[in-house]
Amino acid sequence: MKKSVALASDHGGFELKNSLVEKLKKDGYNVLDLGTHTSESVDYPDIAVLMADAIKNNKVEYGILLCGTGIGISIAANRFPFIRAALVHDGFGARLSRQHNNANVMVLGGRTTGTEIAYDCADIFLNTDFLGGRHARRVEKLSHLC
Ligand code: RB5
Repeated sequence: MKKSVALASDHGGFELKNSLVEKLKKDGYNVLDLGTHTSESVDYPDIAVLMADAIKNNKVEYGILLCGTGIGISIAANRFPFIRAALVHDGFGARLSRQHNNANVMVLGGRTTGTEIAYDCADIFLNTDFLGGRHARRVEKLSHLC
């Protein structure tokens, strides 16, 4: 059974998000497209809230968020204690975000990451397991920082 994944972006990640939605659907994933649904300007914190709701309510196992650089929406998503959002730029980052950080949300920049690289990142992110062990201790500490 393929995993379930929600995708959401602001206008800066709109086109890449749409490409990823189509690709992941074609690959058989259970895809939830949370928007944005037009190229009109929207605020990335509002988009991060949509993803947080989907993760919190167990609508999906994983999320992929996009804005222009991926930076703003990463900052926003990581305000939620149940989200570990990782801004990645290549397959190596995507792999380590799962193996070491148990990231449940991958973040991409629509203006910084090419389509094929994004597909590669998504494929790796959705098919790599957390390694646990010493990494579990570190991830657990994230919940007790403040
Ligand atoms: C929107 O213009 C842009 O600021 C946003 O997509 C993102 O890159 C912010 O970090």
